Amino acid sequence: MKKHLLFLLLAAFCLLLGGCSESQPQASDPKLLLGFSQLGSESSWRIGNTRDIEARAAEYGISLMMENANQKQENQIAALRRFIAYRVDVIAFSPIVEEGWDNVLREAKQAGIPVVLVDRTIRTEEEDLYVCLIGADFYQEGVSAAEYLLRKAETLGRDHLNIVEITGTEDSTPMRQRHAGFMDTLAGAEGMTVLESVNGDFLKSRGAECMRYLLGKYGGDIDVIYSHNDEMTMGALPEIEAAGFVPGKDMIVISIDGGQEAIDILRAGKINCIVECTPMLGSTLMETALALKEGRPVNPETHPVEQTFSDEDDLSRLPPRGY
Ligand code: AHR
Repeated sequence: MKKHLLFLLLAAFCLLLGGCSESQPQASDPKLLLGFSQLGSESSWRIGNTRDIEARAAEYGISLMMENANQKQENQIAALRRFIAYRVDVIAFSPIVEEGWDNVLREAKQAGIPVVLVDRTIRTEEEDLYVCLIGADFYQEGVSAAEYLLRKAETLGRDHLNIVEITGTEDSTPMRQRHAGFMDTLAGAEGMTVLESVNGDFLKSRGAECMRYLLGKYGGDIDVIYSHNDEMTMGALPEIEAAGFVPGKDMIVISIDGGQEAIDILRAGKINCIVECTPMLGSTLMETALALKEGRPVNPETHPVEQTFSDEDDLSRLPPRGY
Protein backbone atom coordinates (compact mmCIF):
# COMPACT_ATOMS: atom_id res chain seq x y z
CA MET A 1 0.00 0.00 0.00
CA LYS A 2 2.84 2.29 0.99
CA LYS A 3 4.61 1.44 -2.26
CA HIS A 4 1.55 2.30 -4.36
CA LEU A 5 1.20 5.66 -2.58
CA LEU A 6 4.85 6.40 -3.29
CA PHE A 7 4.29 5.32 -6.88
CA LEU A 8 1.26 7.61 -7.32
CA LEU A 9 3.21 10.55 -5.89
CA LEU A 10 6.08 9.82 -8.29
CA ALA A 11 3.70 9.50 -11.23
CA ALA A 12 2.10 12.87 -10.36
CA PHE A 13 5.56 14.43 -9.98
CA CYS A 14 6.60 13.07 -13.38
CA LEU A 15 3.44 14.44 -14.98
CA LEU A 16 4.18 17.87 -13.52
CA LEU A 17 7.69 17.71 -14.96
CA GLY A 18 6.26 16.82 -18.34
CA GLY A 19 7.39 13.20 -18.16
CA CYS A 20 10.49 11.61 -16.63
CA SER A 21 10.59 8.50 -18.82
CA GLU A 22 9.34 7.50 -22.25
CA SER A 23 6.53 5.33 -20.98
CA GLN A 24 4.81 6.57 -17.85
CA PRO A 25 3.47 4.08 -15.34
CA GLN A 26 -0.31 3.90 -15.37
CA ALA A 27 -1.97 5.59 -12.42
CA SER A 28 -4.72 2.98 -11.99
CA ASP A 29 -4.18 0.28 -9.36
CA PRO A 30 -1.63 -1.93 -11.18
CA LYS A 31 -1.02 -5.59 -10.44
CA LEU A 32 2.65 -4.81 -10.32
CA LEU A 33 5.19 -2.22 -11.35
CA LEU A 34 7.69 -3.44 -13.93
CA GLY A 35 10.77 -1.42 -14.88
CA PHE A 36 12.07 -2.32 -18.33
CA SER A 37 15.27 -0.95 -19.84
CA GLN A 38 15.24 -1.33 -23.61
CA LEU A 39 18.69 -1.10 -25.15
CA GLY A 40 17.83 1.09 -28.15
CA SER A 41 15.90 1.36 -31.42
CA GLU A 42 18.49 0.05 -33.86
CA SER A 43 16.24 -2.27 -35.86
CA SER A 44 12.67 -3.11 -36.75
CA TRP A 45 13.18 -6.15 -34.50
CA ARG A 46 13.90 -3.85 -31.56
CA ILE A 47 10.98 -1.55 -32.33
CA GLY A 48 8.69 -4.60 -32.61
CA ASN A 49 10.01 -5.87 -29.28
CA THR A 50 9.35 -2.53 -27.55
CA ARG A 51 5.82 -2.36 -28.95
CA ASP A 52 5.09 -5.94 -27.95
CA ILE A 53 6.25 -5.36 -24.36
CA GLU A 54 4.14 -2.19 -24.11
CA ALA A 55 1.06 -3.91 -25.56
CA ARG A 56 1.37 -7.01 -23.36
CA ALA A 57 1.91 -4.92 -20.21
CA ALA A 58 -1.35 -3.07 -20.94
CA GLU A 59 -3.11 -6.38 -21.66
CA TYR A 60 -1.94 -7.93 -18.38
CA GLY A 61 -2.75 -4.81 -16.33
CA ILE A 62 0.90 -4.35 -15.43
CA SER A 63 2.27 -0.87 -14.94
CA LEU A 64 5.35 -0.42 -17.09
CA MET A 65 8.21 2.02 -16.70
CA MET A 66 9.98 1.74 -20.04
CA GLU A 67 13.28 3.50 -20.66
CA ASN A 68 15.24 3.47 -23.91
CA ALA A 69 19.03 3.53 -23.52
CA ASN A 70 19.83 4.63 -27.08
CA GLN A 71 22.53 1.99 -27.51
CA LYS A 72 24.52 3.06 -24.43
CA GLN A 73 25.31 0.72 -21.56
CA GLU A 74 25.72 3.63 -19.13
CA ASN A 75 22.15 4.73 -19.91
CA GLN A 76 20.92 1.22 -19.11
CA ILE A 77 22.80 1.17 -15.82
CA ALA A 78 21.33 4.59 -14.91
CA ALA A 79 17.83 3.33 -15.81
CA LEU A 80 18.27 0.25 -13.59
CA ARG A 81 19.32 2.53 -10.72
CA ARG A 82 16.19 4.64 -11.24
CA PHE A 83 14.04 1.49 -11.13
CA ILE A 84 15.72 0.51 -7.85
CA ALA A 85 15.09 4.01 -6.45
CA TYR A 86 11.41 3.75 -7.46
CA ARG A 87 11.30 0.35 -5.77
CA VAL A 88 9.62 -1.34 -8.73
CA ASP A 89 8.41 -4.90 -8.12
CA VAL A 90 10.44 -6.45 -10.96
CA ILE A 91 13.28 -5.17 -13.14
CA ALA A 92 13.71 -6.46 -16.69
CA PHE A 93 16.28 -5.39 -19.25
CA SER A 94 17.88 -6.33 -22.57
CA PRO A 95 21.61 -5.98 -21.92
CA ILE A 96 23.36 -4.35 -24.86
CA VAL A 97 26.59 -6.21 -24.09
CA GLU A 98 27.33 -9.18 -21.84
CA GLU A 99 29.90 -7.75 -19.42
CA GLY A 100 29.75 -4.96 -16.84
CA TRP A 101 26.50 -5.47 -14.93
CA ASP A 102 27.60 -6.94 -11.60
CA ASN A 103 27.61 -3.73 -9.52
CA VAL A 104 24.15 -2.50 -10.47
CA LEU A 105 22.67 -5.98 -10.22
CA ARG A 106 24.12 -6.36 -6.73
CA GLU A 107 22.28 -3.16 -5.84
CA ALA A 108 19.02 -4.63 -7.17
CA LYS A 109 19.67 -7.80 -5.19
CA GLN A 110 20.29 -5.81 -2.00
CA ALA A 111 17.00 -3.97 -2.60
CA GLY A 112 15.27 -7.35 -2.96
CA ILE A 113 14.12 -6.66 -6.54
CA PRO A 114 14.18 -9.68 -8.88
CA VAL A 115 15.83 -9.13 -12.28
CA VAL A 116 14.74 -10.77 -15.53
CA LEU A 117 17.00 -10.74 -18.60
CA VAL A 118 15.08 -10.25 -21.83
CA ASP A 119 16.47 -11.08 -25.29
CA ARG A 120 20.18 -11.15 -24.34
CA THR A 121 22.19 -12.59 -21.48
CA ILE A 122 25.11 -11.36 -19.35
CA ARG A 123 28.41 -12.82 -18.20
CA THR A 124 28.89 -12.89 -14.45
CA GLU A 125 30.50 -15.07 -11.82
CA GLU A 126 27.47 -14.52 -9.58
CA GLU A 127 24.61 -16.46 -11.09
CA ASP A 128 22.12 -15.24 -8.48
CA LEU A 129 22.24 -11.66 -9.77
CA TYR A 130 19.33 -12.43 -12.07
CA VAL A 131 16.44 -14.84 -11.86
CA CYS A 132 15.90 -15.94 -15.44
CA LEU A 133 16.40 -15.29 -19.14
CA ILE A 134 13.68 -14.94 -21.77
CA GLY A 135 15.17 -14.83 -25.25
CA ALA A 136 16.13 -16.61 -28.44
CA ASP A 137 18.65 -19.41 -28.74
CA PHE A 138 21.14 -17.37 -30.75
CA TYR A 139 23.61 -20.26 -31.04
CA GLN A 140 20.93 -22.36 -32.71
CA GLU A 141 20.22 -19.46 -35.09
CA GLY A 142 23.86 -19.57 -36.22
CA VAL A 143 23.63 -23.34 -36.59
CA SER A 144 20.45 -23.01 -38.69
CA ALA A 145 22.10 -20.41 -40.94
CA ALA A 146 25.08 -22.71 -41.57
CA GLU A 147 22.87 -25.75 -42.12
CA TYR A 148 20.95 -23.87 -44.80
CA LEU A 149 24.25 -22.89 -46.44
CA LEU A 150 25.45 -26.49 -46.52
CA ARG A 151 22.17 -27.60 -48.14
CA LYS A 152 22.40 -24.75 -50.66
CA ALA A 153 26.02 -25.62 -51.54
CA GLU A 154 24.93 -29.18 -52.22
CA THR A 155 21.96 -28.07 -54.35
CA LEU A 156 24.25 -25.82 -56.40
CA GLY A 157 26.94 -28.49 -56.61
CA ARG A 158 29.50 -26.15 -55.06
CA ASP A 159 32.20 -27.71 -52.93
CA HIS A 160 33.88 -24.40 -52.19
CA LEU A 161 32.28 -21.13 -51.12
CA ASN A 162 33.82 -17.88 -49.89
CA ILE A 163 31.82 -16.35 -47.07
CA VAL A 164 31.82 -12.88 -45.53
CA GLU A 165 30.13 -12.28 -42.20
CA ILE A 166 28.61 -8.99 -41.01
CA THR A 167 28.19 -9.31 -37.27
CA GLY A 168 26.02 -7.51 -34.71
CA THR A 169 27.11 -5.34 -31.80
CA GLU A 170 30.51 -6.33 -30.45
CA ASP A 171 30.38 -8.35 -27.20
CA SER A 172 26.61 -8.79 -27.39
CA THR A 173 25.06 -12.23 -26.95
CA PRO A 174 23.58 -12.49 -30.47
CA MET A 175 26.88 -11.42 -32.02
CA ARG A 176 28.87 -13.99 -30.08
CA GLN A 177 26.47 -16.88 -30.35
CA ARG A 178 25.35 -16.40 -33.96
CA HIS A 179 29.02 -16.37 -34.92
CA ALA A 180 29.86 -19.42 -32.79
CA GLY A 181 26.91 -21.51 -33.97
CA PHE A 182 27.71 -20.73 -37.61
CA MET A 183 31.45 -21.42 -37.33
CA ASP A 184 31.03 -24.61 -35.29
CA THR A 185 28.61 -26.01 -37.85
CA LEU A 186 30.86 -25.17 -40.80
CA ALA A 187 33.96 -26.49 -39.03
CA GLY A 188 33.18 -30.04 -40.08
CA ALA A 189 32.58 -29.09 -43.71
CA GLU A 190 35.48 -28.76 -46.09
CA GLY A 191 35.56 -25.95 -48.62
CA MET A 192 33.62 -23.34 -46.65
CA THR A 193 35.99 -20.39 -46.17
CA VAL A 194 35.11 -17.37 -44.07
CA LEU A 195 37.12 -14.59 -45.72
CA GLU A 196 36.41 -12.01 -43.05
CA SER A 197 33.99 -11.05 -40.26
CA VAL A 198 33.25 -7.35 -39.87
CA ASN A 199 31.19 -5.55 -37.27
CA GLY A 200 28.01 -3.84 -38.46
CA ASP A 201 26.53 -3.09 -35.00
CA PHE A 202 23.06 -4.30 -36.11
CA LEU A 203 22.59 -1.01 -38.02
CA LYS A 204 21.49 -0.57 -41.63
CA SER A 205 24.03 2.22 -42.27
CA ARG A 206 26.85 0.09 -40.89
CA GLY A 207 25.67 -2.91 -42.96
CA ALA A 208 26.07 -0.75 -46.07
CA GLU A 209 29.53 0.45 -44.98
CA CYS A 210 30.68 -3.09 -44.20
CA MET A 211 29.44 -4.38 -47.54
CA ARG A 212 31.19 -1.56 -49.44
CA TYR A 213 34.41 -2.41 -47.64
CA LEU A 214 34.05 -6.15 -48.28
CA LEU A 215 33.21 -5.66 -51.97
CA GLY A 216 36.18 -3.30 -52.32
CA LYS A 217 38.48 -5.92 -50.83
CA TYR A 218 37.12 -9.20 -52.25
CA GLY A 219 34.79 -8.14 -55.12
CA GLY A 220 33.38 -11.07 -57.07
CA ASP A 221 35.27 -13.60 -54.91
CA ILE A 222 32.42 -13.30 -52.40
CA ASP A 223 29.94 -16.17 -52.75
CA VAL A 224 28.00 -15.78 -49.51
CA ILE A 225 26.99 -12.94 -47.19
CA TYR A 226 26.02 -14.06 -43.68
CA SER A 227 24.51 -11.05 -41.92
CA HIS A 228 23.49 -11.13 -38.25
CA ASN A 229 20.27 -9.15 -38.77
CA ASP A 230 17.82 -7.94 -41.39
CA GLU A 231 18.72 -4.29 -40.90
CA MET A 232 22.36 -4.81 -41.91
CA THR A 233 21.26 -7.09 -44.74
CA MET A 234 19.02 -4.36 -46.09
CA GLY A 235 21.93 -1.94 -45.90
CA ALA A 236 24.16 -4.40 -47.76
CA LEU A 237 21.81 -5.30 -50.64
CA PRO A 238 21.95 -1.96 -52.55
CA GLU A 239 25.75 -2.03 -52.26
CA ILE A 240 25.87 -5.49 -53.86
CA GLU A 241 23.66 -4.25 -56.69
CA ALA A 242 25.67 -1.04 -57.09
CA ALA A 243 28.79 -3.21 -57.51
CA GLY A 244 27.10 -5.00 -60.41
CA PHE A 245 26.10 -8.24 -58.70
CA VAL A 246 22.66 -9.77 -58.29
CA PRO A 247 21.98 -10.60 -54.62
CA GLY A 248 20.32 -13.98 -54.19
CA LYS A 249 21.88 -15.22 -57.46
CA ASP A 250 25.52 -14.11 -57.86
CA MET A 251 25.86 -14.05 -54.08
CA ILE A 252 23.94 -16.12 -51.54
CA VAL A 253 22.44 -13.86 -48.86
CA ILE A 254 21.61 -15.22 -45.40
CA SER A 255 19.99 -13.00 -42.78
CA ILE A 256 18.50 -13.27 -39.29
CA ASP A 257 15.29 -11.86 -37.75
CA GLY A 258 12.48 -12.31 -40.29
CA GLY A 259 10.80 -8.91 -40.17
CA GLN A 260 8.16 -8.17 -42.81
CA GLU A 261 10.38 -6.07 -45.08
CA ALA A 262 13.09 -8.72 -45.21
CA ILE A 263 10.57 -11.50 -45.79
CA ASP A 264 9.20 -9.53 -48.76
CA ILE A 265 12.75 -9.22 -50.13
CA LEU A 266 13.22 -12.96 -49.65
CA ARG A 267 10.04 -13.55 -51.65
CA ALA A 268 11.47 -11.28 -54.37
CA GLY A 269 14.58 -13.51 -54.51
CA LYS A 270 17.26 -11.08 -53.25
CA ILE A 271 17.69 -12.85 -49.92
CA ASN A 272 18.04 -16.64 -49.93
CA CYS A 273 17.46 -17.50 -46.31
CA ILE A 274 16.28 -15.81 -43.12
CA VAL A 275 16.58 -17.49 -39.74
CA GLU A 276 13.75 -16.29 -37.56
CA CYS A 277 14.42 -14.38 -34.35
CA THR A 278 11.13 -13.36 -32.83
CA PRO A 279 10.81 -10.13 -30.83
CA MET A 280 7.46 -11.23 -29.38
CA LEU A 281 8.70 -11.87 -25.85
CA GLY A 282 6.17 -9.68 -24.03
CA SER A 283 3.65 -12.33 -22.90
CA THR A 284 6.34 -14.54 -21.38
CA LEU A 285 7.83 -11.50 -19.65
CA MET A 286 4.48 -10.49 -18.14
CA GLU A 287 3.71 -14.06 -16.99
CA THR A 288 7.17 -14.25 -15.43
CA ALA A 289 6.86 -10.89 -13.67
CA LEU A 290 3.49 -11.90 -12.20
CA ALA A 291 4.90 -15.24 -11.04
CA LEU A 292 7.82 -13.49 -9.34
CA LYS A 293 5.50 -11.03 -7.61
CA GLU A 294 3.35 -13.91 -6.36
CA GLY A 295 6.36 -15.99 -5.31
CA ARG A 296 5.76 -18.74 -7.85
CA PRO A 297 8.71 -20.54 -9.51
CA VAL A 298 9.84 -19.48 -13.00
CA ASN A 299 11.83 -21.22 -15.73
CA PRO A 300 15.51 -20.30 -15.57
CA GLU A 301 15.58 -20.04 -19.39
CA THR A 302 12.79 -19.68 -21.94
CA HIS A 303 13.55 -19.78 -25.67
CA PRO A 304 10.78 -19.08 -28.17
CA VAL A 305 10.27 -21.63 -30.95
CA GLU A 306 11.77 -20.27 -34.16
CA GLN A 307 11.91 -21.38 -37.78
CA THR A 308 13.93 -20.83 -40.93
CA PHE A 309 12.47 -19.22 -44.07
CA SER A 310 14.27 -19.75 -47.36
CA ASP A 311 14.11 -20.16 -51.10
CA GLU A 312 13.47 -23.84 -50.34
CA ASP A 313 10.01 -22.98 -48.95
CA ASP A 314 6.63 -21.90 -50.22
CA LEU A 315 6.10 -18.65 -48.30
CA SER A 316 2.85 -17.67 -49.99
CA ARG A 317 0.79 -18.43 -46.89
CA LEU A 318 3.10 -16.94 -44.31
CA PRO A 319 0.97 -14.65 -42.12
CA PRO A 320 2.02 -10.99 -41.63
CA ARG A 321 5.03 -10.87 -39.37
CA GLY A 322 4.00 -8.02 -37.08
CA TYR A 323 7.48 -6.45 -37.00
O1 AHR B 1 19.16 -9.18 -29.77
C1 AHR B 1 18.37 -9.39 -30.89
C2 AHR B 1 18.97 -8.69 -32.07
O2 AHR B 1 19.08 -7.32 -31.78
C3 AHR B 1 18.16 -8.75 -33.35
O3 AHR B 1 18.54 -9.78 -34.20
C4 AHR B 1 18.57 -7.47 -33.97
O4 AHR B 1 17.81 -7.10 -35.09
C5 AHR B 1 18.53 -6.58 -32.84
O5 AHR B 1 19.05 -5.36 -33.03
